[in-house]
Amino acid sequence: MTTKSAKTALVAAALLCCGVAAYAAAPTETIAARQANFKEIGKGMKAVIDQIKSPTPSLDAIKAGAAAIDQGAPKVAGYFPKGTGPEAGVKTGALPAIWQKPAEFKTDTAKFVQAAAALRAAANSGNIDAVKAKFMELGGTCKECHQNFRAREN
Ligand code: HEC
Repeated sequence: MTTKSAKTALVAAALLCCGVAAYAAAPTETIAARQANFKEIGKGMKAVIDQIKSPTPSLDAIKAGAAAIDQGAPKVAGYFPKGTGPEAGVKTGALPAIWQKPAEFKTDTAKFVQAAAALRAAANSGNIDAVKAKFMELGGTCKECHQNFRAREN
């Protein structure tokens, strides 16, 4: 078989199989799920910051917010398969740099996951000063990744 006919056969096989349809739908679904996860993380951050600013912070609200962030954070890494960048044709703030610099993206993701766990641990310890410090550190990891890998106008 020549390379060309092999390719044709592969495309034909792919078209025949349900796989192509599933693959075509996947990037937009992945992007939607990824954005929803970030929204939940954002809500968790808001919940925590509202309490930090309050003269009478609710530890329960801080714990709930920190838990939501800590649950969402480890999912982030799995939401960036190839094909879910701007080429997917839907609105996304994911920059091509994510796939061009995978090692850096992985580092930023790992720092974030670690910081989210640290905030949750601080919340569970009940120490508001520790919560404040870990919140600042966590916020820094959001900012770093957004600067490197997220489109500004998104
Ligand atoms: C490892 C990289 C990375 C980290 C860490 C990160 N983000 Fe993001 N964030 C992104 C990217 C990329 C997008 C764009 C996603 C898209 O539009 O598909 C995004 C989008 C968002 C959005 C918009 C979601 C929407 O509605 O479209 C929010 C809100 C957000 N991030 C909040 C946060 C917060 C808060 C943190 C830290 C607690 C954080 N992010 C940490 C990379 C990151």
